[in-house]
Amino acid sequence: MRLKHCHNFHDFRLLAKKRLPSPIFNYIDGGADDETTYRRNTGAFEQCDLIPNVLTGVKDIDLSVTVMGQKLDLPVYCSPTALQRLFHHTGERATAAAAEKYGTMFGVSSLGTVSMEEIAKQISTPQVYQFYYHKDRGLNSAMMQRAKESGIEVMMLTVDSITGGNRERDLRTGFSIPFRLTLEGLLQFAIKPMWGINYLTHERFRLPQLEEHVDMDGSSTSIGDYFTNMLDPSMHWDDVEQMVKEWDGQFCLKGIMSVEDAKHAVDIGCTGIIISNHGGRQLDGSRSSFDQLAEIVDAVGDKIDVVFDGGIQRGTHVLKALSLGAKAVGIGRMYLYALAAAGQPGVERALGLMKDELIRDMKLMGCKNIGQLSPKNLRFR
Ligand code: LAC
Repeated sequence: MRLKHCHNFHDFRLLAKKRLPSPIFNYIDGGADDETTYRRNTGAFEQCDLIPNVLTGVKDIDLSVTVMGQKLDLPVYCSPTALQRLFHHTGERATAAAAEKYGTMFGVSSLGTVSMEEIAKQISTPQVYQFYYHKDRGLNSAMMQRAKESGIEVMMLTVDSITGGNRERDLRTGFSIPFRLTLEGLLQFAIKPMWGINYLTHERFRLPQLEEHVDMDGSSTSIGDYFTNMLDPSMHWDDVEQMVKEWDGQFCLKGIMSVEDAKHAVDIGCTGIIISNHGGRQLDGSRSSFDQLAEIVDAVGDKIDVVFDGGIQRGTHVLKALSLGAKAVGIGRMYLYALAAAGQPGVERALGLMKDELIRDMKLMGCKNIGQLSPKNLRFR
C-alpha cells in the first residue's frame, strides 16, 4: 500500500500502522479506558442525516470561513497535537507547510517538537498556540511571552487535561518521552527499522516549548504522568480570566463540553471555545462532542465563536458540524496518520481529499458557501 492508494481516513490509518512502531501508532490511535467516547465521536455523525436542495446553481463553491478573526480558505484546520517528529521526522514542519498550502490554520502544541518561533517564521497562514497551564508559573509566563513575540494569532488553552487520561494502550507498550519501553515495545521498534533509521539520522528529539524549564534528559515520563505531575490541577476560572487579560487578543478554551462552561468562557472575555473531549483520550464516557454542539451554539453562538473537534473523518461530518453552527472544525488523528504515512505529501493528500470532498458535498447539498448551511439541512433520527 502506498500514499496514492490512500483515499480516506482508514487508508491513512492503515499505512501509518504499517510504518510506525506499534507503541507510537497506539499512542495516536488510542483513547482512554474502554475508548467508548473515542468511538462515539465519529458514530454521533450517523445519528443525523443531511437533506440536500437541488437546482441552486453551484458552479463555484466558496469554502472560506472567518473564525476568531482569522480568514481561512477551508473550514477545517489542523488541531494542535503533541510530538509530531516522533510520527515522521519532518513533524510539525510538514504539517504546517501543508496547512499553509491549503490556506488554513495550524496549531503548535506545548508538547510540539519544533519551536513555535520556527513555525511562525515558516508559514503565513494563522497559527494557534496550544497552551498547557503548568504548575511552574515561570514556564507559563515565558510561553505566553514567546507566543506574543512570535506573532501567534490565537491562544488556545487546553482545559480538559488537568490530570492524565487512562490510556491503557500506552501502559501496555510503555510509551513515554523520551523512550522507556517494555521489552515488547522494544521488539516493535526492531521490526520497523526504517522508522528507526529516520529517527536516528535526523535532528535529536526535543520539546522546544518546554526545554528551558523542564529537564527532559534525566528521566522519561508517560503523557499521562506529564499531565498529572506537571500541570496545575488548581487552575480555576480566575486564573484563566487573568490570562485572557494578559494575552489581550484572540483567546479560546479547548475542551469545553457543557453549556455552563461555555457561558463562563463568554463571561471572562474569551473569543472562542472548542467543543472537544480531546479525541476521547481523557474522560472516557463523556458525551460525543457532536452531540453537545447544538445546545452550546444555542446558548452562546451569538456571543463567541464556537469551534468543534472530535471524530471528523469525512467532508460530510464537517458539513454536519457547520450546519449546527460550528464556525470551523479541527482534525487531529486524520492528519497525524497521513503525516506518519508519508510526511508532508501525506498531510497534503489528506487535506486535499478533505477539500475535494467538501466541494463535492457542498455541490450535492446545493450550497455555494458555508453561510448557506443551517440546521434546516439536518434531521436527527
Ligand atoms: C494527548 C495530548 C498530549 O492527547 O494532547 O496525548
